[in-house]
Parts: sequence; C-alpha cells; structure tokens
Amino acid sequence: MLVHIGKLINKKMVGKYAIPAFNTQDLETTQGIIRAAVAQKSPVIIQTSVGALEYAGVEELAGLIKTQVREVNVPIALHQDHCHDFSLIKKLINLGYSSVMIDASHLPYKDNVKLTREVVSYAHKRGVWVQAELGRILGNEDWQNVKSGEDLMTDPDEAVKFVAETRIDTLAVAVGSMHGIPVDPRIKKVLSTLKEHIDLQRLKAIRKKIQIPLVVHGASGVPDAQIRAAIKIGVSIFNIDTDLRVAFNKALRKNLKQHLEIYDPRKLLAPATLALQKKAEEKIKLLKSNGKGR
Ligand code: G3H
Ligand code: ZN
Repeated sequence: MLVHIGKLINKKMVGKYAIPAFNTQDLETTQGIIRAAVAQKSPVIIQTSVGALEYAGVEELAGLIKTQVREVNVPIALHQDHCHDFSLIKKLINLGYSSVMIDASHLPYKDNVKLTREVVSYAHKRGVWVQAELGRILGNEDWQNVKSGEDLMTDPDEAVKFVAETRIDTLAVAVGSMHGIPVDPRIKKVLSTLKEHIDLQRLKAIRKKIQIPLVVHGASGVPDAQIRAAIKIGVSIFNIDTDLRVAFNKALRKNLKQHLEIYDPRKLLAPATLALQKKAEEKIKLLKSNGKGR
C-alpha cells in the first residue's frame, strides 16, 4: 500500500536498519522493485528522477507506480529524487508524493538555503517531507555532473546550520559515494585516492550533530561492509539505482544473445525483471529492512 514516507522512517531504526530508495522509470523496474519488497516483506521507497519523468511522462509514471503499489500489502512511499524545478515539485505533491528532494546543491550556500526554504514552506503546509543536499555528490545524475572530490563533501558544522535554516526533514550527505559507474578518468582518479568509498569519520561527525534522518546517495558499488558500517552510524535511507540497472541489463543482454528466435518483448524482458528483483532483494537484506514491512 502507498504510505507516507514518515511511516517508514523512525528513530527506532537508527543504527539498526535502513530503507532502500530505489529509482524507477518504467513498468519492469517498478514491478521488480515491488515484487522484491513483497518477497522480503520490506518497506521501500520508490523514487523518480527528473529524467525518468521526462522519459515516461509525469502523470503516466506516477500513475503506474501508485496503481501497482495499491495492490500489495507492504508499505511503500513515493519520493521525488534530485529536483531543482519548483513547479514540477508542486505538481508531484498534487499527485500524491509524500516526499520530494529539492536539489539546489549546485548553487552557492545562501541560494541553496533560500530555494530549499521556499520548497519546505510549500511542502510542509501539505504534509510533505523535503530532502535537500549539502555538499555535492560525485558522478552523473540527470542534469548534474560532479567531478571533484573532498572539497565538495558535506561539512558537519555547515550541515547543522543548513538543517536549522531550512527545516528540511531528511538530509542527503556527500560523503564520498558517487552516482553511477565511474567511467570518467577524473572521477576514477579521485576514487583511487580514497581509502574508503564512504568517509565514515565524516559521516560519524555529521550524525553526532544532526538529528534528522540522513540519506546516502550513490549506494551502488559501495562495498557491503561500508554500507553496514554506515547503517550502524545511523544512516536511514540509501539511494540505489545503478546496481539494479546493471542486473537488468546483464540479464537482458544474455537473453537477447541466447534466444535470437524470441521476438515477444515480454519474453525478453521477464528474465531481466526477475534479475532486477533478485538484486533489489539482496539490497533489502543488506540494509536489514526485510521483515520490517509486515
Ligand atoms: O539519487 C539516486 C542515487 O543516488 C542512485 O545512485 O545509481 O549510484 O545507485 P546509484
Ligand atoms: Zn542521488
């Protein structure tokens, strides 16, 4: 069933388990995620990016997710990922999103605060949570392409100020994880200098000072041990996209190669959806949210 994100995130989970926020842009991905949530009795967040909404259509994609979620008995929340378009945010709130991310992290601090505050004021009047980002998460995500390293990570003291000034509900932290697969040599170089994918010391310092739920983006490709350590430190939400896409693509390519006689798209796509589901189940177990959606 579709629930408010506030039903999935609570203080008791901090340090024990976290909720996956999976991205979707189509029928198959949505089905795979929901089937994984049902199989593992896990609460999940389903999120859309601006690019996904452009690809599938805003009302079409929101409608597809809501219709499928209605049929199942695990709690699922709908969230808008990285968005810098206030009018789109308003539209999504009208369509029943219980959480939206205003990503003004590319702007100077004071402009990030200003725009985020405006969105918070609008969203809170309608009972909707707001996520914002401070610092800049590495890699490619829709309109963002961040290539630099340490200097763009979230500063713990600035984060305290940012949360107080904006009154956001969840904070996306830049702690070293990155969006997508590192193909750019500059990003590869930055990554090769890091001892850990996630700067756990920085994460600890942020956690100590910040009370609201923390979100780690770019969780694909982060070693399991570091995800577990980040959960212990107190991360509540992990955004996962690329790992599901890779699982889907791998299975699809294999099927296409092995079965030249198949021309029914449904038969080509079904094993890919299943592979994505299995990957989502792995992630749910890693975050220990399995069984928490009864
Ligand atoms: O906002 C979405 C994500 O942070 C997903 O990142 O594709 O690296 O898993 P990922
Ligand atoms: Zn992200």
